Amino acid sequence: MSFKKVDLTSLQFNPFTKIGKEWMLLTGGTMDSFNTMTASWGQLGVLWNRNVLTCYIRPNRHTFGFVENGETFTASFYGEQFRKALSFCGSHSGRDCDKVKETGLTPAEFDGCVAFEEADMVLVCRKLYSYDLAESGFLTDDGIPAQFFGSDPYHRAYISEIVGVYVKE
Ligand SMILES: Cc1cc2nc3c(=O)[nH]c(=O)nc-3n(C[C@H](O)[C@H](O)[C@H](O)COP(=O)(O)O)c2cc1C
Repeated sequence: MSFKKVDLTSLQFNPFTKIGKEWMLLTGGTMDSFNTMTASWGQLGVLWNRNVLTCYIRPNRHTFGFVENGETFTASFYGEQFRKALSFCGSHSGRDCDKVKETGLTPAEFDGCVAFEEADMVLVCRKLYSYDLAESGFLTDDGIPAQFFGSDPYHRAYISEIVGVYVKE
């Protein structure tokens, strides 16, 4: 595996396509026990003078417990050739299957966290703050709760400091 640790300021990409169109894997846990899921909602930016990733995980995801119970997790990004693997990780639960076995992704350790060797970029994220989205918080009546929540639980948001950035050499 050949990743190099780089400074965040050296990165150049469009966060809207990176997260929203290409998707990311959110992986919680350690090499001994972890789970990963696909996510396409999130933001990269600055808060409290720190570089942060905010992501949103529904409490009924298997990944939720791993992220909730750890101090850190990873967000990792992949080329188009791994779209099938990301689709799988976004449509099957680690409760019911072995995502590593099914996708062929290769787990690898990054600062005590887990991501996959096939990644182009791995962000190691340290949780700073979490909060639950709630219907009472919506300021418009353009139908977002009905479209995105229905009877499902609302997501928990994790604002996390990006403490490590690794890119493929
Ligand atoms: C493209 C895509 C984007 C997704 N984005 C999110 C997201 O941002 N947050 C979330 O909670 N679930 C999201 N999901 C759903 C989870 O990835 C999916 O429920 C997954 O099977 C959960 O796996 P787990 O139970 O092993 O954690 C997304 C799924 C897909 C296919």
